[in-house]
Amino acid sequence: MSAEGGPCLVRLAGGDPLPAWVARLDRTAFGAGWKAPAAHEALWLIPELAFARWACVPAAGEAELLRIAVDPAHLGQGWGRSLLEACQEALAAERMPSLFLEVRVSNAAAIRLYQACGWKRCGLRSGYYPDGEDAALFQRSGS
Ligand SMILES: CC(C)(COP(=O)(O)OP(=O)(O)OC[C@H]1O[C@@H](n2cnc3c(N)ncnc32)[C@H](O)[C@@H]1OP(=O)(O)O)[C@@H](O)C(=O)NCCC(=O)NCCS
Repeated sequence: MSAEGGPCLVRLAGGDPLPAWVARLDRTAFGAGWKAPAAHEALWLIPELAFARWACVPAAGEAELLRIAVDPAHLGQGWGRSLLEACQEALAAERMPSLFLEVRVSNAAAIRLYQACGWKRCGLRSGYYPDGEDAALFQRSGS
């Protein structure tokens, strides 16, 4: 299976149950799983492969990428890029063209992905993470 040809995307919204594979991937990628999406959140999935979790503020035309992860067995095959681009298009279509995120400054794979998808670095939060690492802030506008 490859990311070429476009992913089969599923969108979960507030109140939808979290699939078990998402909870597993969340724990594998981030060490701790999250709950089912809250009312203001949206979760896009490529089933069994990848997820991206967003906090949405439709009234402001904004969304924040909270987490994105690809199954470790499928890294580096274009799934992350494919999912992020699909989310960007969907959020623009839902009138949320103004996107934000923060990422550990050491996370070279994620930073490369964001840059490849048109995100620009716009700031730094010093000592943002519990272990003292800085967070780089990125933003993106448009579809
Ligand atoms: C970040 C992540 C989602 C990328 O997913 P992926 O499917 O492996 O990425 P892709 O194959 O779509 O590659 C997208 C871009 O990132 C680059 N990239 C991917 N892995 C990389 C790595 N290990 N080092 C450097 N660049 C990398 C690719 O070269 C590509 O850039 P290009 O199009 O300019 O060549 C994945 O590494 C992951 O799940 N990491 C763990 C969770 C995480 O840290 N999430 C981000 C913080 S929320």
